Formats: sequence, C-alpha cells, structure tokens
Amino acid sequence: MKTHTLLMPLDMHLHLRDGVMLENIAPLSAYSFSGAIIMPNLVPPVTTKEDVIAYKERIMAAVPNDYFEPYMTLFYQNYDKDFLVDVAEEITAIKLYPAGITTNSEGGVSSFDIEEMGPTLETMAELGIPLCVHGETDGFVMDREAEFMGIYEELAKSFPNLKIIMEHITTKEAVAMLDKYENLYATITVHHLLITLDDVVGGMMQPHLFCKPIAKRPEDLDALLSVALDAHPKVMFGGDSAPHPQHKKESCGCAAGVFTAPIALQLLCEIFEQFDKLDNLQAFVSDNAQSIYGICPEFKEVVLEKRPFVVPENYAGVVPIYAGETLNWAIESVE
Ligand code: DOR
Ligand code: ZN
Repeated sequence: MKTHTLLMPLDMHLHLRDGVMLENIAPLSAYSFSGAIIMPNLVPPVTTKEDVIAYKERIMAAVPNDYFEPYMTLFYQNYDKDFLVDVAEEITAIKLYPAGITTNSEGGVSSFDIEEMGPTLETMAELGIPLCVHGETDGFVMDREAEFMGIYEELAKSFPNLKIIMEHITTKEAVAMLDKYENLYATITVHHLLITLDDVVGGMMQPHLFCKPIAKRPEDLDALLSVALDAHPKVMFGGDSAPHPQHKKESCGCAAGVFTAPIALQLLCEIFEQFDKLDNLQAFVSDNAQSIYGICPEFKEVVLEKRPFVVPENYAGVVPIYAGETLNWAIESVE
C-alpha cells in the first residue's frame, strides 16, 4: 500500500479555545502535529505574561501523553518596551486582529496608525518577534483581503526588520505580495486549497465551510495552489482550524470557522498527490515554518497510508469539514 511520511508537521495557525473545548480538541492536534502557533483570541484575549503562561499550562494539561509544543502568541495591542522584553521568551509571535473583523476580535486594532503602532512594532523587530496579521478591511466581504494589501505594504516598508506573516491568505493579490517584500510571509489553510465561494453558498448553504476570510474565486484558489504545491519558501501550512459547537454553526447566525485539525494532514496528502507534488509537502507542512520562525521541533514521524478513511460525523460536538465523507488518505502511525 502506498504510504507517505511526514516529519514534525507544524500547524502555524491554530485555535484551541479553552475549558472543555480545549480539553476535547487539543489532543486531536497533538496527535499528528509536533507543534502549533496558538491563537490568542480567547474571551478575554491573551494580553499579559500571566495569561500566556497560564494558557500554555492549560494546553499542556490537555495533552498529557503527546509530545506537542504550543507556540504561544499574544493578542496585539500597543505594548510598551519593558513589557515586550519581559514577555519575549514566553511567546513566538504576536497576532494582530482588526477590531471586530472576526470571532473574538473586538479588542483589536481600530486604526492602522503607523506612528501609534511604531514603538511596539519596532521593539518586536528588535526582539525578533514576528507579527501575524488577520489581513482584512471592513469593506465588501469578497474584497476585504485585497483591500488590506495597502496596509501590508505600509507595514512591510515601515518596519523592514519585522517579520510579517499574512495569515490564512485567500487571494491572488496576497500571493503576489509575497515576492514584493522580503519581510512578508504567509500561512495557507487546507480548506482554502480546496474550496471557493461556490462550495460555501453556490448550492445549499454549507455552514461548516463558512469562515473568515471567506473562500474566494477559482483564480484565487489557483494562485494559492501554485505557491503551496511548489512549497514557495515564504509560505507554510497554518490550518486556522477553528472549532465551534455544532449548534453555533448550524444556526441562524452561523459562527465563522472551519474545523479541520484532525484531518488536515490526510487532506494535504490528497491535494499534493493529486497534483503529483507529494515531495513538496514536507516543506509546506514543516520545513518552511522551521526556517521562517527559526524553530526546531522535537522529532515526530507521521506515516500516512493511501486507503479509504471515513471522516467522523463529529468530534466531541464539533463537526469537521467533510464530515461523513470518504478521504483517500489515513494516518497509519505516529511515532
Ligand atoms: O473563520 C474564522 N474563525 N476566522 C478567524 O479569523 C477566527 C476564527 C475563530 O476564532 O473562530
Ligand atoms: Zn484564525
């Protein structure tokens, strides 16, 4: 049977939540990934050193038997230098949300005033703390990411020593930015390598495919595939797996977020194999992230096997993408 081995897979954008959800969900990522960048959009968000340390402890307590490194982040605010120096060793990045743009982002940035943000961003650059950005304006939903490109350009030019990660990119405009500025990088989800807006609302509306940023047009999908499949050195896998309880998705006023964590590697094998690019998956799912972030995860070997795998209907009350459908790859072993 055909197999494919991945070493130290990393998920560079992951929502683990808190409380019972964390306890149920964290083991799923810890099983197949060596580590993940943990999003700080809790309620209230992670904004202090104590918050970071305590949240990391709760994550570790939820995954007692697995080797899994939670790379912690802070929720972006304008922080002073003393604070950043003090917190630097506890965090891997800082995540910036425009205020109100997505789930639990109300405390985010309401105006991108480069002068106001300058001291924080300069200090982050000095300390080598990357800035992860949810890059959407509050414009028309299909144009939000493309409209944000001007802000990325201003940030990239104003802070040339700051590593800026364009999170979960969904457009050809964002792909084009990668080669324009040395200090811009990107994460790409697995669902944005599979779906367009057509899959979300082209037929019966599919709440489990609804997320922010929303999936875009076929030409955007093609652009994302072109850099992911070639494992462009500035892109890395970041699943943005975002669990919501089933009743919050299948409801009037559907929460944004696609839950992919437990089947992300299986889906990635399927995509990369389909385009005859399986050899590039290792770079996309680990090696690029290691170089970009300068991290060195502990050894983990995940063997996937090409055989039918039926996606569970739900994981502890959270419905995954492609629930009940049959995939072509399964996880055979993890060591
Ligand atoms: O769809 C999304 N869900 N996009 C985000 O940016 C946040 C996430 C969540 O936390 O549920
Ligand atoms: Zn996210």
